[in-house]
Amino acid sequence: MASQFLQEVLHVNRLTIEGGVPLEGSVRVHGAKNAVLPILAATILNRGVNVIHDCPDLKDVRTTMKILTHLGASVKREGSTVIVNTEGELTNHIPDALMREMRSSIFFMGAILSRCKSARISAPGGCELGPRPIDLHIKALGEMGAKIQESHGYINCEAEHLVGTNIHLAFPSVGATENVLLAAVFADGKTTVTNAAKEPEIADLAAFLNQMGADIRGAGTGVVEITGVKELHGAEHTVIPDRIVATTYLAAAAATHGNVTLTNVIPAHNTAVLSCLKDCGCSLTIGEQSVTMRAPRVLAPLDYIKTLPYPGFPTDAQSPMMAMLTVADGTSIVAETIFESRFKHVEELVRMGADIKVDGRVAVIRGVPALSGATVTAMDLRGGAALVVAGLAANGLTEISNLQYIDRGYEDIEHNLRSLGARIRRA
Ligand code: UD1
Repeated sequence: MASQFLQEVLHVNRLTIEGGVPLEGSVRVHGAKNAVLPILAATILNRGVNVIHDCPDLKDVRTTMKILTHLGASVKREGSTVIVNTEGELTNHIPDALMREMRSSIFFMGAILSRCKSARISAPGGCELGPRPIDLHIKALGEMGAKIQESHGYINCEAEHLVGTNIHLAFPSVGATENVLLAAVFADGKTTVTNAAKEPEIADLAAFLNQMGADIRGAGTGVVEITGVKELHGAEHTVIPDRIVATTYLAAAAATHGNVTLTNVIPAHNTAVLSCLKDCGCSLTIGEQSVTMRAPRVLAPLDYIKTLPYPGFPTDAQSPMMAMLTVADGTSIVAETIFESRFKHVEELVRMGADIKVDGRVAVIRGVPALSGATVTAMDLRGGAALVVAGLAANGLTEISNLQYIDRGYEDIEHNLRSLGARIRRA
């Protein structure tokens, strides 16, 4: 534990990869980070004991557990299960230091407001993906009757009674949709969200809330209806598999011309990525909860990928799939429409011999016969994953630093990849 703490503080660890080995074998995909985080925040809505299974042991999950503890919940991990007891009194305040550890913890705003009738949290500000505005969250909660003031870097919200209403999101923001769900469970009457985000993680949050006794319909579609209830009870829930971790392992297998089976996958959540892999020439066998993929000797390029809200191609899958396309036989075009600063991995991939030109939000990737190992730095979570994919495909030795980013989204990545035959270790 102490050594993990030191590694996190000093960022001293590195991944070294001896590339060029085709990935072969089977690996289980862990629970979805982006589902666990709002579900853990939702545990404060009841006064009870909540048991959440398949919670990956990731930095952001640990930070969320710290926030819950700070708020007054009692939290413990047993293997991959996290148990949160929220029976006691809770505070309504998340300090700046904890918010800065994980800027996406903004969805605590709706949950705390529901539970405590007021919330005081530090404003999220910018992050490695560029500015992270929360105007949609604030507008939606305001429409439900919350009084919100921003001052001295803090957001103060108050609402003795939140009131159900019609909320139209100008953009289907994942976090804003989650915040409305969390705020609306106890609101007077019915809240209807239109242009809601349709991501599977939202449906999973709603499934957990409904298990607690909430009344939510339509989550996972563009129209979600939440009818306020008086109280919620403790619940037990298993988190959905992580579709971005699945994508990363598939991209790595394709880039190394491998043959892998992923278990604990919901293939329907990965339709956009699986369709791209098929277009690259990979052969896919889709099971109920598994995907087997055999990659060809020569990968075909992809004419055009554009990141979009679900069920479009996920922004989080953009960088690992781009790393794969650097070794395809031809030119691919990738357009990033969701976040401003999501091509930071490009410079590092170019150091490894990739041929990529970026113009604004569009990247043109001309496939090269082989990448060459190099010393590179992860600049964000999925960009770091892209470097792992590239390192596995490259000739020679790749050394990746700044692992604190990669560790935010992938549990034990080197162990899982080693089980597929990769020569990778943490130094
Ligand atoms: C979530 C995911 C993240 C993923 C993203 C898009 C979690 C913890 N994180 O992030 O991994 O990449 O969805 O699928 O689930 N926006 C505004 N105003 C707002 C809110 C958002 O302009 O009030 C903009 C953002 O700047 C961004 C876009 O909308 O350009 C998408 O953001 P959003 O869907 O809210 O993503 P997150 O919930 O932050």
